[in-house]
Amino acid sequence: MGAVRGRAAGEKGADDAASPCPCACAERVGAPADGPDTCAIVVAGGSGERFGDPRGKQFVDLVGLPLMCWSVAAFDRAPSVARIVVVCAPERAAEVERDVLGRLSLAKPVTLAPSGPTRQASVRSGLDATPRGLDLVAVHDAARPLVETELVERVIAAVRADETLGGAILATRCTDTLKLVEGTQIVATPDRSFYWAAQTPQVFRRRVLLAAHKAAEHEEYQGTDDASLVERVGGRVRVVESTRDNLKVTVPEDLAIAEATLERRLLM
Ligand code: CTP
Ligand code: MG
Repeated sequence: MGAVRGRAAGEKGADDAASPCPCACAERVGAPADGPDTCAIVVAGGSGERFGDPRGKQFVDLVGLPLMCWSVAAFDRAPSVARIVVVCAPERAAEVERDVLGRLSLAKPVTLAPSGPTRQASVRSGLDATPRGLDLVAVHDAARPLVETELVERVIAAVRADETLGGAILATRCTDTLKLVEGTQIVATPDRSFYWAAQTPQVFRRRVLLAAHKAAEHEEYQGTDDASLVERVGGRVRVVESTRDNLKVTVPEDLAIAEATLERRLLM
């Protein structure tokens, strides 16, 4: 593990210049003047049990490429991202090198890190492989192939714009009516307007996320995302509104939706 390919960290590409946020908010998207400040961590070490394909959902074909290629490519295009850490099972590292990284002409350096038994352990492994010199980390599920570079930049810009934040995450407003249920009995109908569905990427100050992971490990806490680890040690995390397109491929039906969305985008 630890293979590196691509350009040297900090080298600039043609599209690295900062540009105004398309929604005309105060946040500027694009790399800051002193260069890209973010290391992406793409976690691809799961076994995809709910998806059920023996290859693992991150390797199944999505519009001609292994599914995880699409998110790695989206981070590679992001002006704020200096380098990428891909977390995968050690026994699949050669396959990732050949069939994922080898199929893309990436501009940024990529390092491989070994996955762990849980998503949280995999993120921690990826975090340990990130360089100290980059202030921000963007944690992303390889199982979300439809993430768009513009949204990656928006969530990074949100953290950069507010020093009091430990992090920011992409999320969508809940549109279904929510029920709190015990067994099959409805106990409450919470006010939906307070609820958002968390996605990735989730972007944090590197030192904050590392401290949160160490605290969780010490207290044997397992969260389902990284924001929850930062929240429980008192870090402020905000949401950046995302789109439902950025779905997580969990079951085979999700793959058909992802395929249709990607094909539509490629035709536009
Ligand atoms: N992941 C990981 N290491 C693990 C478990 C999960 O890197 N030990 C990654 C997955 O590869 C995926 C992301 O975390 O990109 C989100 O996890 P999930 O959607 O739950 O994927 P799997 O754990 O692979 O699927 P399942 O829970 O159905 O087995
Ligand atoms: Mg899982």
